[in-house]
Amino acid sequence: MTKIAFIGAGNMNGAIISGLVKTGFSAKDIMVSNPSPEKRLALKEQLGILETDNNIAAANFADFIVLGVKPHLITSVCQKISETINISNKCFISVAAGCTVAQMQNALVNPCAIIRTMPNTPSQLGLGVTGLYAAEKVSDQQKQVADALMSSVGIVKWLTTEDEIDQITAISGSGPAYFFLFMEAMEKQALAFGFTEKESRELVQQTALGATQMVANNDIPISELRANVTSKGGTTNAAINSFIDDGLEQIVTNAMNSALHRAKEMAQNNV
Ligand SMILES: NC(=O)c1ccc[n+]([C@@H]2O[C@H](COP(=O)([O-])OP(=O)(O)OC[C@H]3O[C@@H](n4cnc5c(N)ncnc54)[C@H](OP(=O)(O)O)[C@@H]3O)[C@@H](O)[C@H]2O)c1
Repeated sequence: MTKIAFIGAGNMNGAIISGLVKTGFSAKDIMVSNPSPEKRLALKEQLGILETDNNIAAANFADFIVLGVKPHLITSVCQKISETINISNKCFISVAAGCTVAQMQNALVNPCAIIRTMPNTPSQLGLGVTGLYAAEKVSDQQKQVADALMSSVGIVKWLTTEDEIDQITAISGSGPAYFFLFMEAMEKQALAFGFTEKESRELVQQTALGATQMVANNDIPISELRANVTSKGGTTNAAINSFIDDGLEQIVTNAMNSALHRAKEMAQNNV
């Protein structure tokens, strides 16, 4: 039976563990390691998984080691594990932004199977998007397990080059916050029109939910959905023309390129 160790019991690993158990993976084959007790004990209590404060014990237990600590800790965690136990048959799966396969491989004493992933926050609801990149030593069986792991919290997209991880970061990794910002701006204007905070939130939230659901439920291009609700000379048309005149497309392009640039910078410096 495949055994999985999660290093770090924070938001992202917590979401994946919860997704895995909900999809039927045996809780007794999962061990989480975290220095402070609260989060790992809460996961044990809720899901029945094993827990420890010792990364080595967790890594020793498992075939797959999911690295869910902050990016600047990834290499030291890898180094300590590989200096203490035999890692040659284990597969490391990182969910950390800004830490490359080469940086992880340098920290591991022996050549090892490494999968780099980029999940996003809606994974907490099972609505995530995860980009995955498998380095050369990864077997098909290890890819299948990583696929099942990340599919338990949303959809997965396998990437053919590691560079694409930075692009996925700029699209889906950082993407939820782009939509939050847009919703915040609409909420502010609803308040300015005189609606209460509760009303403004509800109006914007339901509009975003409805629009997203329409995209999800229709196969037609998003541009066509927009055209269908934009009558010539109408109110929506006035708003859309205002967005276009103010250069919305270029604003989005610039923002996503900034995220891409920052992702590359972080990968270079491991920060
Ligand atoms: N959250 C997201 O949406 C998201 C999206 C994509 C990628 N990621 C990546 O996921 C990783 C974790 O992010 P997060 O948001 O889950 O952070 P988080 O909630 O802060 O979780 C990090 C966890 O790591 C634990 N930890 C610290 N040092 C450790 C060590 N030496 N060994 C084992 N565990 C240790 C921390 O424990 P203590 O609390 O006891 O210090 C904490 O519980 C990051 O690398 C991030 O780039 C996150």
